[in-house]
Amino acid sequence: MEAGLSLVIVIALIIIAYIGSLLELYTLFGIVIPYVGFLVFIFGLLYRIISYAKVPQPFKIPTTCGQQKSLPWIKHSRLESPFTTWEVVLRMFFEIFFFRSLFRNLRAELQGRRLVYGSAKWLWLGAILFHFSFLIIMLRHIRLFTNPVPSFIVTLDYIDSFFHLGIPPIYITDLLILAGLVFLLLRRLIDPKVNYISYGSDYFPLFLILGIVLSGVLMRYIFKVDVYAVKQLTLGLATFNPSIPKAPIRSIFYIHLFLVSVLAAYFPFSKLVHMVGIFFSPTRNMANNNRAVRHVNPWDYPVKHYTYYEYQQKFRDKMEEAGISIDEEVEPEKEHEWYSLYIPGKEPPHLRK
Ligand code: HEM
Repeated sequence: MEAGLSLVIVIALIIIAYIGSLLELYTLFGIVIPYVGFLVFIFGLLYRIISYAKVPQPFKIPTTCGQQKSLPWIKHSRLESPFTTWEVVLRMFFEIFFFRSLFRNLRAELQGRRLVYGSAKWLWLGAILFHFSFLIIMLRHIRLFTNPVPSFIVTLDYIDSFFHLGIPPIYITDLLILAGLVFLLLRRLIDPKVNYISYGSDYFPLFLILGIVLSGVLMRYIFKVDVYAVKQLTLGLATFNPSIPKAPIRSIFYIHLFLVSVLAAYFPFSKLVHMVGIFFSPTRNMANNNRAVRHVNPWDYPVKHYTYYEYQQKFRDKMEEAGISIDEEVEPEKEHEWYSLYIPGKEPPHLRK
């Protein structure tokens, strides 16, 4: 149901862009919507980053899967239980570039009445294929927005079309991203366990990106567009001096661009924002050093409390009456540096408006 609805929405978006180009609304679909999408992307991401950065981290909660730094003769697992900031950076690096924790992904299956876990690297492979191909495609697209094209983009282009199959040569990343996307989609559709926990917000980005990739592939290999005219438009967009080229560009380009604009605007408000969220994840970005360094809860605030002395002063009569012994040696405390945990609904002073 959710998958079907997501597909219908993406098809509707394609139809909207197609009609827009038939009606020759080039300024709207070639300039206004891309700029709006880009602005929503930038400000939406900034909003996300600022709101993530403002969330206090009351507890030290790094996920650890190895021996923490301990006595000198006990081997410390630096990546699994980082102690210093550098070790955290290293762990983050492997997480971000190689999806290290996903590599540990397991498959759970019922065999008769037994729950059996097995190795499952397919998800990791599909995710790596998809993300790296996406990154390389985005980098290659820089050629549309620059003149002259930076040499490393030219090299990347050359490597990506290394096999020189077809005219224009087929990019390896085009095939890999399609393979990755189809795998990620089929996994949600076919595996009943994953299907059960999948929502529209899981399918929609997959269909949307599939739409972008397919329209891009069609544009390059089948309905070839006038790349010269496209570059006139994209260079204009990049230099904030946009104009619609005289030579018409085929509808498939406007479909591609519209889907990209929708993706950009949707990005900060969707699960895709894990791209920045990962950096703010306390289970990843904290060092497991809480035995060595005191972690102060930023929500802590001074709390007025009764010391035993004050309690005894207040209830002395009643205690005596009830025969409870009075501790004459207890003294008033000098410093009231007591803290308590955050109580929901009772904002600490520094968070009060
Ligand atoms: C999320 C961002 C984008 C993705 C994932 C994407 C994906 C693709 C893919 C897979 C292709 C097939 C050929 C290739 O791999 O280069 C392609 C081609 C193309 N894309 Fe994109 N694209 C994106 C953004 C854009 C933007 C912002 C523009 C222009 C404003 C654009 C314009 C084009 C053009 C003109 C082609 C055809 C290039 C050629 O004929 O060589 N794309 N795109």
